[in-house]
Amino acid sequence: DWTMAEFRKTKIAEIRAQVGDKRVICGLSGGVDSAVAAVLIHEAIGDQLTCVFVDHGLMRMNEAEQVVTLFRDHYNIPLVHVEAEELFLGGLAGLTDPEAKRKFIGKTFIDVFETEAKKIGGADFLAQGTLYPDVIESVSFTGGPSVTIKSHHNVGGLPERMNMQLVEPLRELFKDEVRDLGRELGLPPAFVGRHPFPGPGLAIRIPGEVTKERCDILRKADAIYLEEIRNAGLYDAIWQAFAVLLPVKTVGVMGDARTYDSVCALRAVTSTDGMTADVFPYDAGFLTRVATRIVNEVQGINRVVYDYTSKPPGTIEWE
Ligand code: XMP
Repeated sequence: DWTMAEFRKTKIAEIRAQVGDKRVICGLSGGVDSAVAAVLIHEAIGDQLTCVFVDHGLMRMNEAEQVVTLFRDHYNIPLVHVEAEELFLGGLAGLTDPEAKRKFIGKTFIDVFETEAKKIGGADFLAQGTLYPDVIESVSFTGGPSVTIKSHHNVGGLPERMNMQLVEPLRELFKDEVRDLGRELGLPPAFVGRHPFPGPGLAIRIPGEVTKERCDILRKADAIYLEEIRNAGLYDAIWQAFAVLLPVKTVGVMGDARTYDSVCALRAVTSTDGMTADVFPYDAGFLTRVATRIVNEVQGINRVVYDYTSKPPGTIEWE
């Protein structure tokens, strides 16, 4: 019978057979999938693997540090940390269309990755943490002939451009299975259990123009929301929870002063693969507590709303 321990052994043998003595580059996104892929591949081929983490400045609070620490200190896996916040935020200036934002981030990510890959002498193989639902969702959409709902951010296009072959050891797995494999490989439970985070990061949680200031405001609100979720013991019952910073200002009152600040929307859904999702049913006390904390503690937000839309018809992310 089929267990993750056997899957691990089989995949390690397959990776060795595919790669031989060649070099592999793996792009880390900060998420669970690419991390699990990287650790598995490292177990198979050791220092033939180099990981590249392109930090676009659109990560959540402390997220970049956590990734770097995990790889460098916990696993001792060679990691190139590219700090590219200015490049990404510079290019995002003035962009408001969701697809334009996604395309810019995807393209820039590939440019930066390619430059870094050349710097370290290139490689024959590119490793990706592609999962089964990624394979499905990028191919078709039920209800029509191959409609693109959102251009997904990954390193598509890069393999051809750089003449690289793909190593995708997680292609048959669903998210819960990747988590099992991550635990099997000894990744810290808190890391393995993390909610999914999209490649374009906070940029698609800030409808309208993305600026450093708005990223900082969103990071604070999001951190408070997640802290309350963890304190309430709800984190593992939720597939994904995050704050969205809306390009809408409303009037409020603080003390005896009038405020005119942004609206923050909270999202939380349950799901098994991200393809469909239900709204997480918080009790009213929880949402009131989070809203009060965010408005009191985050300058720039004076109103908080909760998103009650399931998928479909909504998507999980707002862009
Ligand atoms: P949507 O918003 O389409 O998202 O319902 C479904 C799942 O995919 C994640 N997502 C992405 N993941 N690159 C990713 O790696 C992306 O460009 C991207 N866009 C959405 C989203 O967070 C949810 O888990």
